Amino acid sequence: MIQISPSLLSANFLNLERDIEMLNESEADMLHLDVMDGVFVPNISFGFPVIKSISTLSQKPLDVHLMIVDPGRYVSQVRDSGAAIMNVHYEACTHLHRVVQQIKGAGMKAAVTLNPATPVCMLEDIAADLDMILLMSVNPGFGGQKFIPNTLKKTRQLKELIERTGSHATIEIDGGVNLETGAELVSAGADILVAGNFVFSAESPKDVISQLKKLG
Ligand code: DX5
Ligand code: ZN
Repeated sequence: MIQISPSLLSANFLNLERDIEMLNESEADMLHLDVMDGVFVPNISFGFPVIKSISTLSQKPLDVHLMIVDPGRYVSQVRDSGAAIMNVHYEACTHLHRVVQQIKGAGMKAAVTLNPATPVCMLEDIAADLDMILLMSVNPGFGGQKFIPNTLKKTRQLKELIERTGSHATIEIDGGVNLETGAELVSAGADILVAGNFVFSAESPKDVISQLKKLG
């Protein structure tokens, strides 16, 4: 059963309450929140006060994707802002093992994200400790970009690595997801699809979420 995590980055920030209520009524499984620091990625989005406000209204778990340098500095702030899943980039953590244990110690699910050029084998020795692994299918920083097809190969490789290492991690894919790329990702082994632009640019985001749910 495929899970859908709509990315709020493409929501209408003047009407966030309306969009979150729409997601509460939709078949979305969680909400994907993209935090950007202007250093790790060439863009700045929103931070903890906004996430905390969203958490008071959302009935779905918050899947927080931190595109920031040294995210281990913010574990307790992420937890206090209401996150269920804390997603950190492999490329942003010098001591990834420590950060993963801190996230779990704070009571959140631990997820690690890989940029498009980072091979899945880099997670060989941490996969068994993870609840989720996120593969970027675009270079992080912006919504509405084109899906990088090499992600399909990486998804299959990651599925094999997860099975081999006895990990229970789910596979999430982020960037350029639509009905076509989504269908290919489901056959490659994806468990969770993030979708921003495809959902929020639609006339009926709820219908698009339910079409994505039908992919798997
Ligand atoms: C990109 C973000 C994504 C983004 C996905 O840096 O991590 O979550 O919102 O957007 P779409 O689905 O529009 O590619
Ligand atoms: Zn994201």
